[in-house]
Amino acid sequence: MKAVVWTRYGSSDVLQQQDLERPTPKDNEVLVKVHAASINSWDWELLTGRANFNLGGRLKPPYKILGCDVAGTVEDVGRNVTRFRPGDEVFGDISRDGWGGFAEFVCARETSLSLKMASLSFEQAAAIPQAATLALQSLRDKGKIRPGQRVLINGAGGGVGTFAVQIAKSFGAEVTGVDRAEKLDMLLSIGADHVVDHIKEDFTRNGQEYDLIVDVQSHRSVFDYKRALAPKGICVLVGGSGGAIFKSLLLGSWAIGNRKVTLLLYKPDPLDLALISDLIEAGKVVPVIDRRYVLSEVADAFRYYAEGNVKGKIVVTVQ
Ligand SMILES: NC(=O)c1ccc[n+]([C@@H]2O[C@H](COP(=O)([O-])OP(=O)(O)OC[C@H]3O[C@@H](n4cnc5c(N)ncnc54)[C@H](OP(=O)(O)O)[C@@H]3O)[C@@H](O)[C@H]2O)c1
Repeated sequence: MKAVVWTRYGSSDVLQQQDLERPTPKDNEVLVKVHAASINSWDWELLTGRANFNLGGRLKPPYKILGCDVAGTVEDVGRNVTRFRPGDEVFGDISRDGWGGFAEFVCARETSLSLKMASLSFEQAAAIPQAATLALQSLRDKGKIRPGQRVLINGAGGGVGTFAVQIAKSFGAEVTGVDRAEKLDMLLSIGADHVVDHIKEDFTRNGQEYDLIVDVQSHRSVFDYKRALAPKGICVLVGGSGGAIFKSLLLGSWAIGNRKVTLLLYKPDPLDLALISDLIEAGKVVPVIDRRYVLSEVADAFRYYAEGNVKGKIVVTVQ
């Protein structure tokens, strides 16, 4: 099978397409013929070694092939698999199964996969799992979102943010999206009530208060969040600078009074994917796909990601 192989940390240039043996599913695994996969910021952080910290500083890449969000057709199943059979259309986040989505075939445990709705294309399905689940878990589980709340999403124009804006709207919130100017029209088009250009305006110093802040790009101090949060408000840190996140969590409990700063610890969950699928079926959420690439162009796709200014997600069509 064709696969885009990752042999060392570096830029997009280290990615190479090669011919590899097709994997064989273990007893509890499904062999998926991949139709589409998508890039998440986590792929980029792994590729460049920025996620090394989380992986105990390993010198060699922990996986041979990147790509954790996949959509495809079940090709074969292990003997203990009960939920799927060959021909089923599935999607999911396989980050707990050794990654490997940028390839023609990949194995994953059946518990990592969900049935894909017929109304979704494989490309749309591949754009969903990690980004949409991060968005849902930030808003619902950590943020305790409620109708009528003022919710701000910082980094709203990227993968997680475009889902977070729409999911927050589906919960009945008034949503402000913060990102760079080029993405603001898109944010309004997917339902944001207000937008802020982060280059021109600092949302922590404009006199507005929010009941819930979801920060995908956390670089601020806990005192900044305190200014922007309403009393009893919650700020959920999803990603960003490790140092800033650490300091916020360390200082958060005493420095911020009756407000709260908390960190999301992501857990892939097929039940959450089912809920997100319902929101999509109901027309409340639409995956935003900026560009599509084919498998042989994965390095170009990462180059485009690294330039910034991606609106929503980048999808790789495999077969
Ligand atoms: N907590 C967990 O368990 C967990 C698990 C997995 C991943 N993560 C994290 O989740 C995050 C996911 O991000 P993503 O996939 O949505 O990334 P993304 O697609 O790259 O989106 C990030 C967005 O933020 C924008 N941005 C950059 N700097 C900004 C600033 N100073 N203010 C406002 N917006 C800014 C980016 O714009 P440009 O493109 O123009 O730069 C982009 O639109 C990552 O940080 C990742 O590390 C967390």
